[in-house]
Amino acid sequence: MHDDPCSRSAAKDPCVIVIFGATGDLTARKLFPALCRLFQTEALPENFAVVGASRTELDHDAFRERMKQAAEKADAMPQAWDALASRLFYRPLRFDSPEDYRSLSEFLGELDERFETAGNRMFYLAVPPAAYEEIAINAGKAGLAEQQTSFSRIVIEKPFGHDLASAQRLNTALLGSFDESQVFRIDHYLAKETVQNMLMLRFANAMFEPVWNRQFVESVHITAAESVGVEHRAGYYDSAGVLRDMFQNHMMQLLSLVAMEPPSIYEAERIRDEKTKLYRALKPFPTEDIESLLTLGQYASGVVDGEKVPAYVDEPGVPAESDTPTYAAMRVYIDNWRWQGVPFELVSGKRMREKRTRIEVRFKEVPCSMFRNILGEHITANRLIINIQPEEEVRLAFQAKVPGSGMCLRNVNMHFDYKDEHADNLGAYEKVLLDVLLGDQTLFWRQDGVDLCWGFLTPVLMECNCPERRNMLKLYRAGSDGPEPAEC
Ligand code: BG6
Repeated sequence: MHDDPCSRSAAKDPCVIVIFGATGDLTARKLFPALCRLFQTEALPENFAVVGASRTELDHDAFRERMKQAAEKADAMPQAWDALASRLFYRPLRFDSPEDYRSLSEFLGELDERFETAGNRMFYLAVPPAAYEEIAINAGKAGLAEQQTSFSRIVIEKPFGHDLASAQRLNTALLGSFDESQVFRIDHYLAKETVQNMLMLRFANAMFEPVWNRQFVESVHITAAESVGVEHRAGYYDSAGVLRDMFQNHMMQLLSLVAMEPPSIYEAERIRDEKTKLYRALKPFPTEDIESLLTLGQYASGVVDGEKVPAYVDEPGVPAESDTPTYAAMRVYIDNWRWQGVPFELVSGKRMREKRTRIEVRFKEVPCSMFRNILGEHITANRLIINIQPEEEVRLAFQAKVPGSGMCLRNVNMHFDYKDEHADNLGAYEKVLLDVLLGDQTLFWRQDGVDLCWGFLTPVLMECNCPERRNMLKLYRAGSDGPEPAEC
């Protein structure tokens, strides 16, 4: 008998969750509130403990107090706070000190005895990416990656390097201590309900697959527009830019979900195998002709949601002469039988008119219009629109007769709205933490996918950095739809 797959998942295997960087912003804003919600909904295992580890000197009580404030601020305070607090601990730890990892290891052993956590570990690296390699190496040396009858899992968030070479270096460090099945590389887009629904929509319905190819599809448009600017992250963002920040990860994941082949069964490795095959089929960017396929932009000042906002270069922490792109529109082709010649238009930018993430599949027009004598040749083609956020919906746009004695057509929509359906929505960090506890890697990047996407983007990034390409960067008004797209 299977458990009911529709019921809410809960982790059963006991575990000590270790958060490196536990005094930082990510822990307070996202991670700890997510843990509180999982605790409140009884999704954490019965036997667990949480250990914060960071450079700051704190004792257990001071850490509990900090976490209490974080939970209150995020409106995630569990009713049984005292029960959760009694399982919270803190260890000061210098990331470069082998001795500190050894003493952490001893402490985790004590918690195993006290809470019957069976030696199982989750290590969540809520630290700047520059510290990932050092922590992975030192954790490995202290035996923290070992798993005999137990498990040990390490969780990291993007960016996974800033180009192919640095991503490979990071992987070498991770895989020197942990093996691939122990590494959980987060992409928070995959934790979105509407993104997960892509596979269900495509492969649990027989009607879409037969038309999901170059014979019927004219083009595919993937847009992740944001109305926010760089916010307080100039230090990171100015050296990343939109191509590293959004394309190397979220856009590539959305692309793979739209374009991949169906795996033979819903299982993490098979799904990731298909994504890898898709990334291998990406047509390398013709760097000599880059401007016909890529538009780069940077926001100028403007008005967003009725408020005047500064230009990117006037944001706090951004150098006045910065030429970092905050917008990109890229046309990608996939070299396989299914998609030969079909353009995939990927667009992402900050400070655009509105926040909108959407996938739009534009089908071809009817091959011959039998209405041409009364309506002319052109009939608007069908479109399937998958709104990822903030609307969460699927729309199929098609033609119907305008009621009445005349003969004319109008666009109508078949419409499914997620909001009508689901009440049991897990937040992205809750989903991620739960999946790590369950050992399910379906929604996480695998090393080969990361490398292939960097392999695709790194030559583009290098070309865009050439002095003679500087004029590619176009300014666009904040609050607009971005610069004009590239001519083709
Ligand atoms: C992050 C990027 O990964 O995704 C941010 O670093 C971006 O720059 C964010 O704003 C967008 O996520 P979401 O879920 O708001 O679409």
